[in-house]
Amino acid sequence: MVERLVLVGFMASGKSTVGPLVARRLGWGFVDMDGRIEARVGRSIARIFAELGESTFREEERRVAAEVAELKDHVVAAGGGAFAFAETRELLRAGALTIWLRCDLDTLLQRLPADGIRPLAGNRETIGPLLAERERSYALADGVVDASLPPESVAQRVVERMREGGKDR
Ligand code: S3P
Repeated sequence: MVERLVLVGFMASGKSTVGPLVARRLGWGFVDMDGRIEARVGRSIARIFAELGESTFREEERRVAAEVAELKDHVVAAGGGAFAFAETRELLRAGALTIWLRCDLDTLLQRLPADGIRPLAGNRETIGPLLAERERSYALADGVVDASLPPESVAQRVVERMREGGKDR
């Protein structure tokens, strides 16, 4: 039995919305990596990027991945970039079932507000190329669920995938 379920996928694929729904169904805890990073650093993600730089953010992300790797019976919402960094990805994969919440570009663009809260979503032009690049790492997850559906349906499918043993590959 896996000790953790880690949801990966692009910004706005629904990880932080679906994660608590899955956790409730399983009777598990829920942890949002970005929330943990903000609490550790004492600044918002936008401020960490603007004031400390992306590389500091990625270091913190790796530390938080190491922390959550100690948790049992938890659903983890990873940040959209976490799986693209090999060391962070391996920390997230160990002992966990990893599920990619896959969503098409048009749906993501509709969901992603250009409000500056997500530093890497400010420029609409770069979202498509970034998604294409990131998909190569998300494809390393154990399973994939269509995340363009309503959150409760996505959560249901994630739980089913887990009960089936989860591994598509
Ligand atoms: C990022 C995604 C964000 C957050 C940060 C960087 C990325 O998380 O970790 O802004 O590199 O794709 P969400 O996927 O929760 O928006």
